[in-house]
Amino acid sequence: MNNRFSAIQSFDDDLDFEPQSAPAPEAPAEIPVLAEEDTPPLAPEDIPESVKQQKPLTIDEISVKDATPAQQKILDAKVKLHRQMLEEFNLVALEELPRDELVKEIHKFVSDYVAKERLALNTTELEDFVGTVVDEMTGLGPLEPLMRNDDISDILINGPNNCFAEIKGVLQPINIPFKDEDHLLRIIQKIVAHVGRRIDESNPMCDARMPDGSRFNAAIRPITIDGPLVSIRKFKEDKLTLEKLVEFNAIAPQMAETMRHAVAARKTTIISGGTGTGKTTMLNALSAFINPSERVLTIEDAAELNLQIPHVGRMETRPPNNEGNGEIKQRDLVKNALRMRPDRVILGEVRGEECFDMLQAMNTGHEGSMATIHSNTCRDAISRMEQMLGMTGMPMTVASIRSQIAGAVHLITQLTRLSDGQRKTTSISEITGMEGDIIQMQEIFRFKRTGLTEEGKILGHFEATGVRPRFLEELKAMGIELPGEFFEPGVELK
Ligand SMILES: Nc1ncnc2c1ncn2[C@@H]1O[C@H](COP(=O)(O)OP(=O)(O)OP(=O)(O)O)[C@@H](O)[C@H]1O
Ligand SMILES: [Mg+2]
Repeated sequence: MNNRFSAIQSFDDDLDFEPQSAPAPEAPAEIPVLAEEDTPPLAPEDIPESVKQQKPLTIDEISVKDATPAQQKILDAKVKLHRQMLEEFNLVALEELPRDELVKEIHKFVSDYVAKERLALNTTELEDFVGTVVDEMTGLGPLEPLMRNDDISDILINGPNNCFAEIKGVLQPINIPFKDEDHLLRIIQKIVAHVGRRIDESNPMCDARMPDGSRFNAAIRPITIDGPLVSIRKFKEDKLTLEKLVEFNAIAPQMAETMRHAVAARKTTIISGGTGTGKTTMLNALSAFINPSERVLTIEDAAELNLQIPHVGRMETRPPNNEGNGEIKQRDLVKNALRMRPDRVILGEVRGEECFDMLQAMNTGHEGSMATIHSNTCRDAISRMEQMLGMTGMPMTVASIRSQIAGAVHLITQLTRLSDGQRKTTSISEITGMEGDIIQMQEIFRFKRTGLTEEGKILGHFEATGVRPRFLEELKAMGIELPGEFFEPGVELK
């Protein structure tokens, strides 16, 4: 373990930052910075080996855990029926039928089947049964029951026979009964056609928002090797609140309290983390503490934020059409947003040249703006922003790039998905300014790893580093005083 930390330490030393010395009780080599490998990203190509080796769950095993024997019989019959229908019906022809004819066809088939198998179904149950079969044959096909199941948050498909889902926070292999690759491809086509887009050999990647608000991404041959890759992040109506995140132990109550007041006091915050670490969730949770009288504009690629405040204007980027025209980028939206008299601008994720406009906004009266960024440490988040500013092609020196960042951003919150799947707020750091051309950053809170159980569960706790954030003075002036013990070094926060 020490080797690993010392490796990270030397990596940090390579960067051009000088952390301000904190009265840290331990040697810096102990800082539990989590390496990239601790963040299993939720990308189809990167599913952990241990997960891949589990036996896939069937859809019905997921949806009905405690089925009675009678229910179980119907479920078994449904699986058999579905298989039979996939074999006997011409799916393509079926999908083209008008819905009432389709219902008639399927009704007849199902009634015969129910009679033959002696299933005890009354008329309503039979209608329901036909309804679900119709949905599964048309609509989103076998994805339909997964989309309806609230326990499932992500669906990852690596070709028709290799599928995974995150069920109640745990990634598991599942069996989604696609008939073959063409069947899967047709469902993809249907989803992207719904948003007026197309996916084909010359345009093999597509992002879309599904009718229920879920985020959808597909890539197909020739850029994929084993058939279509699909990733779905399901839309959740009731987002996690900061309170819930504390309850889940994703953040300590003292850290949450500090962040809550920082947001209310318009401290500009960047939320950093890898894929699926909970960045959007945290942004959403923190936004609840924005003063309701403030006007907020949100800018996203696919609208996911669900801010709990009244005065919100929401904007979304638009991809180019099939001729390659009409694209509206985040940068265009940020520029436009500034003409709309916002108090704060919130960017779902800052990825490129819009970073420049975002920092400018933050530097010019839109304090308290927020964004998420894809990076693995707080420092890495700064380096990523430096790179993004470099992408604008403007003649800026490193020093001016850094002073833009240091002037704009006050806090960086780092989220990490540990190797055992737990999501943690692994660091909260404050940017305090520049010294020469070096950005000064100090860590206020961190997650300290203390061990590993035999089952591979990571042990650890949140603690303060002993640095008192500079903005405490500002909070005091606003009549808010955070207890001193929040920031006592080395005390386990809970
Ligand atoms: N602390 C948590 N505990 C359990 N589940 C969580 C937690 N935080 C987020 N989630 C869930 O994890 C999933 C991913 O969260 P979210 O969309 O916020 O991640 P993200 O970092 O924004 O992902 P992406 O990189 O894809 O944008 C969601 O379904 C969310 O509800
Ligand atoms: Mg996100």
